[in-house]
Amino acid sequence: MSTMFQPKKERFNNPLIKNMCEYQDLVAEFENDFEGTWAKFADEKIDWFKPYNKVLDESEAPFYKWFSGGEMNVAHQCIDRHLETKKNKAAIIFEGDNGDQKILTYRELAYEVNKTANLFKGQFNIKKGDRVVIYMPMIPEAAVTMLACAKIGAIHSVVFGGFSSEALRDRIVDAEASLVVTADGAFRKGKPYMLKPIVDKALEHDCECVKNVCIVERNGEDIHWEAGRDYSYNELIKSQSPKCEAEPMESEDPLFLLYTSGSTGKPKGVQHSSAGYILWAQMTMEWVFDIQENDTYWCTADVGWITGHTYIVYGPLAAGATTVMFEGVPTFPDAGRCWKMVEEYQINQFYTAPTAIRLLHKMGENEPDKYDLSSLRILGTVGEPIDPPAWKWYYEKIGGSNCSIVDTYWQTETGGHIVSPLPAATPIKPASATFPLPGIIAEIIEEDGTPTEVGEKGFMCVTKPWPSMIRNIWNDPERFKKSYFGDCKKDGQPVYFTGDGAMMEEDGYITITGRTDDVINVSGHRMGTAEVEAAIKKHDNVASVAVVGKPHPIKGEGIFAYVVLKSVPMAHGDDIADELETMKEINAVIKTEIGAIALCDAMIFVPDLPKTRSGKIMRRILRSLAKGEEITQDTSTLEDPSIVDTIASKM
Ligand code: WT7
Repeated sequence: MSTMFQPKKERFNNPLIKNMCEYQDLVAEFENDFEGTWAKFADEKIDWFKPYNKVLDESEAPFYKWFSGGEMNVAHQCIDRHLETKKNKAAIIFEGDNGDQKILTYRELAYEVNKTANLFKGQFNIKKGDRVVIYMPMIPEAAVTMLACAKIGAIHSVVFGGFSSEALRDRIVDAEASLVVTADGAFRKGKPYMLKPIVDKALEHDCECVKNVCIVERNGEDIHWEAGRDYSYNELIKSQSPKCEAEPMESEDPLFLLYTSGSTGKPKGVQHSSAGYILWAQMTMEWVFDIQENDTYWCTADVGWITGHTYIVYGPLAAGATTVMFEGVPTFPDAGRCWKMVEEYQINQFYTAPTAIRLLHKMGENEPDKYDLSSLRILGTVGEPIDPPAWKWYYEKIGGSNCSIVDTYWQTETGGHIVSPLPAATPIKPASATFPLPGIIAEIIEEDGTPTEVGEKGFMCVTKPWPSMIRNIWNDPERFKKSYFGDCKKDGQPVYFTGDGAMMEEDGYITITGRTDDVINVSGHRMGTAEVEAAIKKHDNVASVAVVGKPHPIKGEGIFAYVVLKSVPMAHGDDIADELETMKEINAVIKTEIGAIALCDAMIFVPDLPKTRSGKIMRRILRSLAKGEEITQDTSTLEDPSIVDTIASKM
């Protein structure tokens, strides 16, 4: 059993959950009266326009409905309802790449959101239920746009700015968006970079659904303006009214779509609800980050991912907190950038990913010593299992051995944290996400629902619905059922399977062991092997390909590709130069099809792939080979067992 770290009680002043007894009591409350307890929180937390009449409707399971009949509005919940008590409190503190700063108070945020909402309604004719794709840098207007959509009931779909024009087009087309909101570009590492040209390229074909593009001018670089389609946000916003009534939204009306990778096929549009989503975003914000009135909270994610949705925008604002948004990268101008910002803004909660911790550790082990980090009380991590050396550095160097680390386990589909320590209550162990949060019935089971033995790997499932769970895959209910409710059953009923493996220790501590499907976790982001393979196959000379994850010192996992070429490349008559050139070309195709986040870290050309007689690629063997492990799997079922040795000899 690994070392245990007790919470520093003296650092907490009246936290919501004070100790493990209170945690157990809450767990028991949900156990004894599941729906009643959820109702209690929904009544206490949400400013309902119209009360709901049913807490949980399971009649069309797994299409669960929460708080049916109720009406509310997420933008009202996040902004308007705070105006009476917090109008001059900072809602968003923005720091640009070059150090420029902007603070939006709750009142200012309300005005910006209302003006933007009026712009979308008036100029672009956006109505309740319409889809708006947001392709933006990390600037306050990204949050303003999301909230403006929420205010008028439009469904937003934020696409991460690192995705290519092809990836952007796929998402626009699938969502049938009528408006794209973007920026000319932004700044990174002191230099401007561009987004609008990528939108232009995406809209070149198959995007007839898009009627308008609204452009926020951030870096002032020259861009193309398509007459009748493209409009300047900065110009149009000036004449909008700062008053806008919140659209009453049914609890189950979709708030947003967010595309994420699965083990097969194209990315799926994960659909989240209004009431259930915001309830859990707010509750976890309060429980897990112990947000106090005067705190300044910073999450370094990008709004293009679920972490940016729930824990930069929706959760913090619903909780009435001050949230920091940062445009730049943690290593510019040097590896002390984050620590400088922690000192300057007196950050109390800092939330980042293991990949960033490893990078900052490697690049500036003693950099934190230069700054006063004593304001920090809670350090969060998310996205992948955190390794003990990174945990130790985070705990000691950043936290001064005086902070709680919350290793928060969740996914795009769960909407918010599901397994996480509570900072003032839970004794923590490095690399363990500890216990399920109250209300989340998370269990590690076998496919048939039997709980796994202590110390044995099993499937991480949630066996009862919860308010912020995924509601559907946009346009594909069958895939929704198959992806999440196909693998595991409990008492004969399909239950939600996360796709992750997990293990429980004797004392109940949960460790997430990673994906059990063909999904690679690169720097805390999900990449589907099928997607990367489909991209690579677009190269003219590729006959077949298999990609697997390979442990990477910074990224956690890197992408490793085994490529079978149609013909030996012979441009230079020099094997190595020709191979290198083809590798470069293949990575260029990936960059065009998906974006730089999916580039391969390593690639080898092989004469064939290990396939079963029925033609199924044996990825497990390829994974072992990439890791340099000895092959212990049975290879006798392969069509050509000798291929394993042939590949091994090339590694
Ligand atoms: C996958 C979800 C959740 C926001 C960021 C990624 C892995 C997430 C942890 C953690 C171990 C973790 C899982 C999960 N994961 N948090 N604390 N410990 N693994 O969102 O792209 O939907 O990816 O990230 O494998 O399924 P996502």
